[in-house]
Amino acid sequence: MKVAFYSAKEYDKELFGEQEGEYDFLFLKDHLGEETAALAQGCRAVCVFVNDDLSREVLEHLRQVGVEMVALRCAGFNNVDLVAAAELGIVVARVPAYSPHAVAEHAVAMLLTLNRKTHRAYNRVREGNFELNGLMGFDLVGKTVGVFGSGKIGLAFCKIMRGFGCEVLVCDPFPSAEAKQYHLVEKEELFERSDIVSLHCPLLEETHHLYDEATFARSKRGFTLINTGRGGLVNAKAAIEALKSGQIGYLAMDVYEEEKDYFFDDQSSGIIQDDVLMRLMTFPNVLITGHQGFFTKEALEGIVETTLENLRSFTLGGEMRHAVSADA
Ligand code: NAI
Repeated sequence: MKVAFYSAKEYDKELFGEQEGEYDFLFLKDHLGEETAALAQGCRAVCVFVNDDLSREVLEHLRQVGVEMVALRCAGFNNVDLVAAAELGIVVARVPAYSPHAVAEHAVAMLLTLNRKTHRAYNRVREGNFELNGLMGFDLVGKTVGVFGSGKIGLAFCKIMRGFGCEVLVCDPFPSAEAKQYHLVEKEELFERSDIVSLHCPLLEETHHLYDEATFARSKRGFTLINTGRGGLVNAKAAIEALKSGQIGYLAMDVYEEEKDYFFDDQSSGIIQDDVLMRLMTFPNVLITGHQGFFTKEALEGIVETTLENLRSFTLGGEMRHAVSADA
């Protein structure tokens, strides 16, 4: 079966290329969008990532060129119009879990970097500057950590933070049995009590701009916000104002609402036009990484395995364990 593989990187080609024979992957550097959907001509499936566009128009185009299946190489599916996919008879499957520890550990890495300012210390020491001014951090032990979303990644994060001796508050409308061992709270309490907040919930209508002007105002002054979930969970313009006023003490972003045009590509020779992103990069207490939370060896191996399982279920007509649908 021929599969159009969008947003392909060298590591994708290496890992998925090993499976060639079973599937005929057409590796495409381009993101999937209205202009590139035609490249899937003759493919029964497309294999896509977080910043590919699977809006109704694109799905309609894909259907016209013969595509019957979308294999997401990620957990989140906010970039897919699931209603349109169902109407067009396109099956959508994702990779629900692939080392949740990869993302949870990256969230912790970002927290520790911002707190202990190792990114700044690294540069200073390399220049022979051993001055400590400006590098003061805070102890994590005893701090209150609020976690939005206690799914696989959120729980892995909670466990680590508990290990640091933090009090962990969890806000999740559908908490699992495991999540109930933590202190479950409503979001108002989480906003008001947390010294550190980490976002691990999906981007949905009700979580879009979960952090905006109003919620920043209700948060503890000088709190730390870590977003490894999805960019749209935070209103970045409001975050800039909250950073300027000191309402946010530290901000870590592995994801950004407008990341689609920049992340995953080398932009170092061009002019970045996004003034919000550029302003965020000027703050000494903001750490931005380019959506690399998932990027560990173990996670990538898990992604390959589950994506192939999804493609196999589609071709063999078996049970599609990881299908996503609008009413799921
Ligand atoms: P999951 O599906 O296991 O857990 C999501 C949890 O969020 C569930 O327990 C759900 O009940 C909860 N939730 C739903 N609505 C909520 C709300 N309004 N408020 C609070 N909680 C809510 O998902 P998983 O695997 O833990 O992933 C979480 C998110 O992390 C994904 O949706 C994705 O956006 C992001 N992600 C980021 C990656 C990165 O590289 N930075 C990689 C993988 C996922």
